[in-house]
Parts: sequence; structure tokens; C-alpha cells
Amino acid sequence: MTQELTSPSPARQAPGPGRGPGWWRDAVIYQVYVRSFADSDGDGIGDLQGVRSRLPYLKELGVDAVWLTPFYASPQADGGYDVADYRAVDPLFGRLQDADELIRAAHETGLRVIVDIVPNHTSDQHPWFQDPELARQRYIFRPGKGDSGQLPPNDWESIFGGPAWTRTGRGDWYLHLFAPEQPDLDWENPDVHAEFTAILRFWLDLGVDGFRIDVAHGMVKAAGLPDIGHGRQATLIGSQHLPFFDQDGVHAIHRAWRTLLDGYDGARIGVAEAWAPTPERLALYVRPDELHQAFNFQFLGTGWRADGLREVIDASLAATASVGAPTTWVLSNHDVVRHTTRLGGGLARARAATLLMLALPGSAYLYQGEELGLPEVTDLPDEVRQDPAFFRGAASAGPAPDGTADAGGQDGMRDGCRVPLPWAGDRPPYGFGPGGSWLPQPADWGALSVAAQTGDPDSTLELYRTALALRRTLPGLGDGPMNWRPAPDGVLTFARPGVLCTVNTLPDPVEIPLPGRPLLSSAPVATEDGSALLPGDSCTWWAI
Ligand code: GLC
Repeated sequence: MTQELTSPSPARQAPGPGRGPGWWRDAVIYQVYVRSFADSDGDGIGDLQGVRSRLPYLKELGVDAVWLTPFYASPQADGGYDVADYRAVDPLFGRLQDADELIRAAHETGLRVIVDIVPNHTSDQHPWFQDPELARQRYIFRPGKGDSGQLPPNDWESIFGGPAWTRTGRGDWYLHLFAPEQPDLDWENPDVHAEFTAILRFWLDLGVDGFRIDVAHGMVKAAGLPDIGHGRQATLIGSQHLPFFDQDGVHAIHRAWRTLLDGYDGARIGVAEAWAPTPERLALYVRPDELHQAFNFQFLGTGWRADGLREVIDASLAATASVGAPTTWVLSNHDVVRHTTRLGGGLARARAATLLMLALPGSAYLYQGEELGLPEVTDLPDEVRQDPAFFRGAASAGPAPDGTADAGGQDGMRDGCRVPLPWAGDRPPYGFGPGGSWLPQPADWGALSVAAQTGDPDSTLELYRTALALRRTLPGLGDGPMNWRPAPDGVLTFARPGVLCTVNTLPDPVEIPLPGRPLLSSAPVATEDGSALLPGDSCTWWAI
């Protein structure tokens, strides 16, 4: 059922100020995981009114846009990535009116809004899947193997663990690359294309500035749904082509969506969540007639090593430059272990990694709470966990090729990065809302709250605020050239117009000739007699 707005929306007007044609090329975009950001009604679950109440915070932080994770009607089998109605807001998060008001309020504040679209699969409660005839036309059903069809049609495994097929009461099987409650749509059916075009239009008409496209590499499956070969999926994932990821056919869909986006005013964008095996394959998603951005998960998956970082930065920049696109950097999201924990060096390393990322040419995504230096919560009791991957026993080894597993957290599951934010006070729920919080917050998060960090020049929050403010005022940061400079082993040095960035990836201090005037550093840097002492695990921006 589609929810109606109770008052007419000023849809179709050009939303928001400062809508340069290439705004996204160097935008800093903040990911709001809606259920964990701010709760307005005391049910312990974040909601759209909660997000709206915190827009001034996001504005002051200095980001350009927010990406809202799915808030659509959903049974919440996978945190809302199982959508039952793409045009309705789930009552957990509010009403359609709240989405409309949030979009308008964000634009008035000067923030753009990107919403999540989930086209690879729907919820099993979606009306299409509920109708047995329609379901067999629009989802991927196959007869089973074996004498009585008792075996799955092929050997594909769910990203969340277990077989990627579930048998129905009629005896046939349906494909679900994720949970059984998330049946995969059949993108060979034109009805599916038409419906998603209409859904995109619905949200574009409401004024959104773009879409984060969930599993953008998964909608098309190899013809004949071929077997992978017993036991090979786990070793192939993330490194090679699989018959259900990164098939060439997905690009036609993205090209059609680009045409649709271009038909609207104000440079509306598409960002691909695509786990492609190489930077070159990823760059195909951001060709001039396709999407605008694609998350650089190769960068996210690189450890804290100077040579590895340099290699992935070079490969990413070269690949995106070959198609004229900027690179889209990211260190944390709702699917991976927070980088304060993942990089293995605590807050010092996380702060340095962030300053490195924000000095690179291109766009960057921040995940809520990283500006507070939040660590992964690694001791959640089993009874509070909600990640379907936990219940289906997805592989727990990292790095995170598919977004569900990573080293360094509580067995690699995803609840530990989704714990609600601490805003103020010294006791849970730390101002998250008037009630509790759907996942328990650690007892020591009071010191990490927004209120506790605001105004403390040494805090991580103020580091982010200063870095983002500098990015706005230094014309050379953002989109533009970058040149490596000679540096000792373990240190990375590169020049951007007017700025030099030094990164010491080693645990111990390293002395270098004074590069310039320190502008901002993730840790106190000592300068003396023409030299600078870079602290271990640090990043510094210098004016040159
Ligand atoms: C994406 C989302 C993840 C979700 C999955 C299935 O990877 O980021 O949270 O579980 O898609 O929709």
C-alpha cells in the first residue's frame, strides 16, 4: 500500500543550494544508519524525525550530503534491506510525510539527500512474491536437482551462509543471494525494470538528490546459472568473477538509470555498492554514461601498510581517471568492522587514516559515529544480535569482500558497528532518544558522546570538523591532481595543490625535513630546526 502525503510536497523544484553540476566529484557524504542515529519517539529505534532533529549537527560537521539507509516498509529481516513497499515508510521510522519533511529540511539546511534503493531483491512479504503466479515471473525459480527435485538447482551459497536456494511448498526453489526472506528479482523480466524506473521517479519527484544502489553488481546472473564448483565460492568471492556478481549485463541497467537521473534537474546521482574484483572492473560502473560514484572497497580492505595503501591509491586513481570519474573513498560503513578497530591501531590509526582519506582527490563517505572515534562493539551478547548473517553462520574471516565479514570484530558480524550513537550524558542511551536503544551501548561511551567532544580541540569530533572545514577552504583539496613525493620507508608523502600530506604508518616517530607549515595533524607533531617529527600512526596536512 502506498502512503499518501497529507499536504502537497513542493516536488520537482530544484532542491537545495549550491547545486553545481559536478557537486558529487569531491563531496563528503555522511551515511546515516537510520535505526541507530537518533530516536524521536522513545521506541529505542532511530527514525526520520530523529534524523531531522540532528540536521544542524550534520551541517556543523561540514558534510555536503547524507545517505539514508533504507527506511521503507519492511519486516526488517535484514535491517530494512528487505523491502516490502518501496514507496512507503516503515512505521518504525515514521511516515512518508516525515521523509518529505526531512528532505525539504535538509535542503533548507544546505545538505543533499541520497536514499538507498534495493533492486537485487525484495522482501518475501512484497506483494509480488506473495502472489505465486507473479512470483514465478518476477523472481528466480527453478526446479531442484535429484530424483525428486530435493536438491538445490545449483551450488551457489548465500552471502549470509547456507545455500542460496529455498524450496517452496510447490516443490520448486527460489534464489536468494542473501537471506531466504530476500528473494532475488529476475531482471530479465521487463516488469521489474518498469517498476524500478517508477520507484526511482517516485523518490526523485519527492526531491532526493540521488540513490545509493544496493548490490549494484548483483542484479544480472550468468545465463544458465552455472555451478561454481564445490567449495570454491568462499575463495573466489571478492577476487574473481562469480556467476552472480559483476556480470556485464548489469551495466545496461545502470546506463538506463543514468538517463533517467539526467532527465531531472540539479545533478542527481547514483552511487554503486559494487564489490568488483579489481579497480578496473569497478571503474566500469562510473563510465560517463553510467553511475557517478562507486564505493572503493579495495581501499577499505587495505591494511595499514604504506606500500599497500600507495598501490591501491594509485590503482584506484588510474582506473577511475581512465573513464573520467573521481574516486570515491570510504573507510567504514554499516557492513564492516569500524576502522578504529579494523585497522588494529586504535584511535590514533583511525584518525590518521581519515585524514589520509580526506586529503585524497575525489569524494569521501563517512559512516555515522566514525567522527566520534567509535570502536566496534565486540562483546554484544548473542541474545541481542539481529544481523541475519549471525544466525546463518556466514564466514567470519576478513577482509570484507562482500560486506558481511571482516577481521577484528566480534566474529565478523555486523551488529557491532550498528550500535546507536552517543549524543550526550554519561549513561545509556546517551541522548540517543527518550527510551532505550535497540542494541546496548557500552558503559564507557559517555566520554565519546557528541556533547563530551564538542569544543575539545583534541577530540576526534573536532578533528573531523576542522578537516572538513579545511577541505572547503583549500581550493586544492577535493577533485584535482596529486603527486607522490619521496619519503622514508613506512611513510607516505604526497602533494595536492597548496597542501602536502604526510602519513607515518609505523608505530614509532619518524623524522623528516620540515615540509611546510602544519595545518592539521591527527597527533601532535613536533617541528624544530628545519625538521619535523611525525608521531607513529599519524597523518599531517602541511601548507606549502
Ligand atoms: C548490501 C547492504 C547490506 C545488506 C545487503 C543485502 O550489502 O549494504 O547491509 O545486508 O546488501 O541487501
